[in-house]
Amino acid sequence: MTDKHMILGMALTDGYGVLKNAWRAPQVDPGNYTSIEANIRYAQSAERGRFAFLFALDFAAVRADVEHTYLGNIIEPMIGLAAISQATSHIGLVATGSTTFQEPFNHARQFKALDVLSHGRAGWNAVTTSDPAVAANYGKPVAGRAERYQRAHESLQIVEALWGSWEKDAWIKDQQTGRFIDSSKLQPINLHGEHVGSRGPLGIPPSEQGQPVIFSSGGPSPHLLSIAGRHASVFIAEVWSIEQARAQRELVRRAAQDAGRDPDDIKYFAGLMTTVAPSVREGLDRRITYIGETLEAQLPHLGSLLGMPLDRTQLDRPLTPGQLSAARPSPMDPRSEPALKIAQHGWSLRDVLAHGAIDYHPVTVGPPSVHADHLQEWFEAGAVDGFWLLPDIYEDGVDAFVDEVVPLLVQRGIYPAEYAGKTLRENLGVPEQYGPDPRVTGGTQD
Ligand SMILES: Cc1cc2nc3c(=O)[nH]c(=O)nc-3n(C[C@H](O)[C@H](O)[C@H](O)COP(=O)(O)O)c2cc1C
Repeated sequence: MTDKHMILGMALTDGYGVLKNAWRAPQVDPGNYTSIEANIRYAQSAERGRFAFLFALDFAAVRADVEHTYLGNIIEPMIGLAAISQATSHIGLVATGSTTFQEPFNHARQFKALDVLSHGRAGWNAVTTSDPAVAANYGKPVAGRAERYQRAHESLQIVEALWGSWEKDAWIKDQQTGRFIDSSKLQPINLHGEHVGSRGPLGIPPSEQGQPVIFSSGGPSPHLLSIAGRHASVFIAEVWSIEQARAQRELVRRAAQDAGRDPDDIKYFAGLMTTVAPSVREGLDRRITYIGETLEAQLPHLGSLLGMPLDRTQLDRPLTPGQLSAARPSPMDPRSEPALKIAQHGWSLRDVLAHGAIDYHPVTVGPPSVHADHLQEWFEAGAVDGFWLLPDIYEDGVDAFVDEVVPLLVQRGIYPAEYAGKTLRENLGVPEQYGPDPRVTGGTQD
């Protein structure tokens, strides 16, 4: 038992779920990609579970083989979240925005507008997109890492400066005297870097939380840590074990400290993909049905994680004792050890894959206690401050988690019975900030 509570957030993708064939499930309307009503239902369900935020990924390109599978992305994050804001009251609304392709003035304006119209619930997942398909849509080649991160540093400083350029008490709006704004408190920022610049000011007043919360997501490269340490209040990671998460969380906290901030000012989240079902078997069957044929194609990849060739003829059988003792988990991939652990339980290779052995994040499958145990173990080990959940199929997967797993977490004393407040900052437990953080100095890449 602890008196500290974990924080939950949920990915919003395309109206279906993270399983590629979720769109074909009978309970799902295959037209949900364009249904804001469906997304609102999922948002309201997550809000019933007191999730701190929804998080809209964004890869602005048609990237998948869309002949048979989904597009993977909400149709447009800011517009989608603006609509959801009007049908919810507490849940945070985090959209991804690329510093590589957007101008900082656009980001500053759109995110602060979302923050104001949602009464202090907006967040910005600032990413340095390196996907050539996205670059092509903006008519550009992918710039090198050094340039993308330099541009990100400049953009973040400009955005924060623009957010603070309407000072907190600038808006007088006195009908009697006729004075609308104290213009001495709404002044240009005049910031110009090597790649981006802006004069300002930005004509948007503070929201109930001051300004949007900045998120970072990705691997803990020195480049990303230098951005996150200076600017982010939340870091979302791809990690597969408690040890890996604990070490990464420490790096992220140290990056904040090195930038002059308090390490508790940045919350570290691990992703978790969930399939809630009455039993593990039923959960695996649900996943196998909707993962689609990609499962068989993953077999060679599983072989490389385990250090042995794997044959399709073995798909419905477990590894033999001889194979298990010969297995050499690849040190190059953090998913290798967890994959071997699943195989050691005697699951067939199909079931090992259905457990998400080579997915983007760890997967939990089965009855509510399986999910609650995973969340509790990682949280109490000091590996994370919270989790970023990716339900398998939104239509019934969000309700199942909220109605069956959340009550267990509350019973165990590790999850709040009520929202801490109405703003995203309050529900994340991160401090007030308006304009740039005065503790953070310097803005160029390390
Ligand atoms: C949980 C998570 C979510 C992410 N979401 C996005 C996203 O929606 N759009 C995007 O362009 N990058 C996203 N990223 C970041 C990319 O994976 C990657 O870090 C970024 O393209 C920069 O890569 P680089 O540091 O190798 O240049 C996400 C990363 C993680 C871990």
